[in-house]
Amino acid sequence: MERQNLESLINLCARRSIIIPAFEAYGEISGFYDYGPIGARIKHNIENLWRAFFVDGMGNLEIESTIVYPEKVFEASGHLKNFVDPIVNCPKCGSSYRADKLLEEYFGSLKDDAKKEKVKHFTTAELQAAIKENIKCLKCKSELGTVGTFNLMFQTHIGPSNKQVGYLRPETAQGIFLDFKNIFRNYGLRLPIGIGQIGKVFRNEISPRNMLIRMREFSQMEMEYFFDPDDLSSVAKEAQSYSAYKINFLSRDAQANRGADMESVSIGELLDRKVIPNHLYAMLLAKELDFLRQIGIKDELIRFRDLLEDELPHYSKRNVDVEIRIQGGFEEVIGNAYRTDFDLSNHQKSSGKSMSILSGNKNIVPHVVETSFGTDRLFWAAMYNSLYKTEGREWNVLLLNENIAPYKYALFPLQKDEQLSNKAIAIKDRLSKLKIPVLYSEGGSIGKRYAKADEIGIPYSITIDYDTIKDETVTIRNASDTKQNRIDWNHIG
Ligand code: GAP
Repeated sequence: MERQNLESLINLCARRSIIIPAFEAYGEISGFYDYGPIGARIKHNIENLWRAFFVDGMGNLEIESTIVYPEKVFEASGHLKNFVDPIVNCPKCGSSYRADKLLEEYFGSLKDDAKKEKVKHFTTAELQAAIKENIKCLKCKSELGTVGTFNLMFQTHIGPSNKQVGYLRPETAQGIFLDFKNIFRNYGLRLPIGIGQIGKVFRNEISPRNMLIRMREFSQMEMEYFFDPDDLSSVAKEAQSYSAYKINFLSRDAQANRGADMESVSIGELLDRKVIPNHLYAMLLAKELDFLRQIGIKDELIRFRDLLEDELPHYSKRNVDVEIRIQGGFEEVIGNAYRTDFDLSNHQKSSGKSMSILSGNKNIVPHVVETSFGTDRLFWAAMYNSLYKTEGREWNVLLLNENIAPYKYALFPLQKDEQLSNKAIAIKDRLSKLKIPVLYSEGGSIGKRYAKADEIGIPYSITIDYDTIKDETVTIRNASDTKQNRIDWNHIG
């Protein structure tokens, strides 16, 4: 079996309408994609698995907050000032580029990995100098202008008067912070407690890239864990059970000392080394690894990277992010931020409303550890790492983990025949009653139908033939090796 490249995945997504460029009829705008029927099913499975694991599985809560916020919210959260990327424009043709990425791509094309890495930590002045020295406008070849900053939030106006400025949320987190006290009080909660949400966020990326990797509208699954920094005794025992868990870790030292690679380190050791701030954070990293395994991402494709000081988001004291290998490089898929009391305290200051709660006999503004999953990047990583070419099949096979496969079974009457169709529909009805998703298809040759099932990630195909009428048996074909078994359809579950 041979893993396929990104081009094959992009091609598959286009041919099977798994991912569709949004508003295509009016011309494509980068960074906006729709999920077609198969893509949407896979994405929803990822979301439902996250919900089962991190919300219900951990006794946490989930909310759904608004998408539009008044300016004051993002003034307080620091996004208005800090949620910016470096931009450089072409004064002649008007093209815009994200300055750091432009240089990274340039040094990448020269295979100069050391400089490519260095650029990530450049100041504005250094970006300016490097661009002046090396790069002209990619479109018209003119000298580029001055490097500035560009705020990534989409602005809008609330109401008809244009007087109240609003923004589309760039993260789901702020809604959780603003609702926290209300929920804590009315639900009689105790710390630590996680409140999460799944939803769309919006970032006006300067240079969207690589399909679902850098989009302008995308989805997050975020959990904010509120806790008392002086009392994590209630999670210490459970956290202890994870302390021997080994993860692939890329330390700050290894990053400074290029060439040094990631190491396999236990979570307990990271706690001892004070890389991660507390037991709660430690436990969450271990749970993330478990969750990614359930999605079907293999351990060797996952690394936990300790972000350098100058890479930390403005609200974070420490980030050990999860990155997944996609075609040679690692992409950040989960941001794990120790947000301290930054957000709650700033909202308290800015709104004049207390954000403190009673915990035991203390009035405190809780601290927060955040786990922020990019759903689309996770989807893309799972798809990329599941696409194979196998011997004996001319088409590619998407070997998705059953937990996220769009359907568990494809159901095929061998040919168009009322007797076979009736039997197939009886089987479909039985499986539907068991809440097992099935794709029913009776058009085309059986070979073509197997090929389609393989390509869209259905692990098993059931074929109904004339023996089924006689003895209630069907063939079940396994997509991973094409082996077929004959079994009584009443035993399928
Ligand atoms: N609330 C914290 C937060 O939003 P982030 O690291 O900016 O943190 C979290 O984003 C995750 O969202 C990332 O790890 C990544 O998976 C995903 N993400 C960020 N920007 C993205 C983009 N432009 N397109 C697709 N996914 C993105």
